[in-house]
Amino acid sequence: MTASSPEPGKQAVVTGGVGFLGSHLCERLVARGIRVACVDNFITGSPGNVSPLTASPLFTLINRDITEGLDVGGPVEYVFHLASPVSPADYLRFPVQTLNAGSAGTIHALELAKKERARFVLASSSEVYGDPLEHPQPEAYWGNVNPIGPRSPYDEAKRFAEATTAAYTRTYGVSTAIARVFNSYGPRMRPSDGRAIPTFNRQALAHVSRLW
Ligand SMILES: NC(=O)c1ccc[n+]([C@@H]2O[C@H](COP(=O)([O-])OP(=O)(O)OC[C@H]3O[C@@H](n4cnc5c(N)ncnc54)[C@H](O)[C@@H]3O)[C@@H](O)[C@H]2O)c1
Repeated sequence: MTASSPEPGKQAVVTGGVGFLGSHLCERLVARGIRVACVDNFITGSPGNVSPLTASPLFTLINRDITEGLDVGGPVEYVFHLASPVSPADYLRFPVQTLNAGSAGTIHALELAKKERARFVLASSSEVYGDPLEHPQPEAYWGNVNPIGPRSPYDEAKRFAEATTAAYTRTYGVSTAIARVFNSYGPRMRPSDGRAIPTFNRQALAHVSRLW
């Protein structure tokens, strides 16, 4: 399939689609000829990340908080659920919004997948392991999470999201996948968002510029 041969009727919903990973995913889907409804409330992501896509007839940007509901027109084939504050700087600033995105937001995204008989993909996190007692972590490891610590809104939201995803598969037969993303990095990450690799790069560059 190429960009010039869109598959009629195929539509993907990407929650958190203007964020770092979401914007790359939207690009890739549109390049494959799949219609994309990118849903984001811009709490941590910038619409500028998808501005090159807005000229495409395959791309629709919807400004919406997914904790309030998720309904898009037309048949939906895929639901990619990425919406959440993610970086430590963000989830420490927005702990309740983080819990809501992982709980209510995940349920709305799963309900859409159930209604549309769509494939559902959850962007989870290595943070489901908390402060792990095993290194490296195999998928079968259940984790070591403090449920009331400062990181708990993110860790527990992701654990709730995984549990809900598994329950929708067992209970309703929704076709789902869970991707536990570890530290990824690349273009469009914000230098000051507190994640390991941008922080390392920013500090290294600041130090280099001080030396010069
Ligand atoms: N990038 C990584 O290394 C990494 C690691 C582990 C997990 N993940 C997961 O991947 C997904 C994407 O991460 P990212 O790095 O692109 O983060 P990001 O912060 O760049 O993007 C998240 C997007 O979600 C949006 N959002 C947050 N709450 C929302 C809500 N209620 N309604 C609508 N939109 C909302 C934000 O505005 C933002 O655009 C997240 O679910 C994250 O937990 C990423």
